[in-house]
Amino acid sequence: MTTMKAVRIHRFGGPEVLTLDDVPWPQPKDDEILVRVHAASVNPVDYKIRGGSYSVKEDQLPYTLGRDLSGTVELLGTRAHTLKAGDPIFAFIGMDRGTYAEYVVVKAMEMAAKPDTLDHVQAAAAPLAGLTAWQGLFDHGHLQAGQRVLIHGGAGGVGHLAVQFAKAKGAVVLTTASGSDLEFVRGLGADEVIDYEAERFEDRVSDVDLVFDLVSGDTQDRSWGVLKEGGILVSTLGQPPAEKAAQHNVQAAGYRAQPNPAQLSEFGRLIDDGQVRVVVDRIFSLTEAGAAQGYLKQEHVRGKVVLRVSDET
Ligand SMILES: NC(=O)c1ccc[n+]([C@@H]2O[C@H](COP(=O)([O-])OP(=O)(O)OC[C@H]3O[C@@H](n4cnc5c(N)ncnc54)[C@H](OP(=O)(O)O)[C@@H]3O)[C@@H](O)[C@H]2O)c1
Repeated sequence: MTTMKAVRIHRFGGPEVLTLDDVPWPQPKDDEILVRVHAASVNPVDYKIRGGSYSVKEDQLPYTLGRDLSGTVELLGTRAHTLKAGDPIFAFIGMDRGTYAEYVVVKAMEMAAKPDTLDHVQAAAAPLAGLTAWQGLFDHGHLQAGQRVLIHGGAGGVGHLAVQFAKAKGAVVLTTASGSDLEFVRGLGADEVIDYEAERFEDRVSDVDLVFDLVSGDTQDRSWGVLKEGGILVSTLGQPPAEKAAQHNVQAAGYRAQPNPAQLSEFGRLIDDGQVRVVVDRIFSLTEAGAAQGYLKQEHVRGKVVLRVSDET
């Protein structure tokens, strides 16, 4: 039996519960593809799952972490005809598998061709964060050219792509970030940047069509009043309270990002056209997954943190 390395949890807890295990290669079904993972990104959901506060239950352990990747096709199921071995792809996969591993099974509807202009580390940074940004702004927020959007957390993994997608759409982009990241978000194209540690954004912002909320809590509470009547607050952190939306004559939506190959391809084209750049703050190895999660959670990360899984990347 061929084995591979995978970073798994056997119980919930801090970084110490991550173990580097030898596990059998996953077997693709007829319509699936076995992918050799070159790089996988680190997302907040990974340390939330590790801590036992998100979705995965005790009876699903041991569990391999990681939701997105960039890699190459290794083996094709008998009905997966459109690709060939060696093709580079990037993907956002379902919760039943993990990408902190040397190989993973991917379904056709979870992947797209890797953007040509990105290496595997950069490409791995894009799928989960990019689809979250895209779906929040356009599917749920219905953002149109000329509209005003306030993005909370513009320097982070989702936020740095959201700022650029919204600009590429022709929106006016206002964003909050910490003081050390103000120049960074300006460089991504944000029209107005607010230091959330030094200022109250509601003193500077009003009449926005969309609040894209990547922070929640008090930040969300203070956001209702900056929306235009009929505007919408879209949150990545659960369903915002409907009564607050009603009080302010606005809409509210919460959502979980979903795999979407057409959207992956679409923002892959924006990347290859040079309209959007994927920023990788720091690269760790697979064996440093715990340190990588700690870095993402505790530091003022600009863009994304990525695990390099294959030496060939
Ligand atoms: N629903 C979904 O499907 C989905 C998908 C992806 C992500 N999420 C969630 O969305 C959130 C953001 O994800 P991410 O990957 O972008 O995380 P991230 O990379 O950690 O970025 C979060 C950003 O928020 C900033 N921030 C923290 N407190 C803030 C405040 N009070 N005001 C403004 N900005 C603030 C941080 O800045 P500093 O570091 O400088 O403080 C950081 O840049 C996470 O909680 C994640 O779990 C949900």
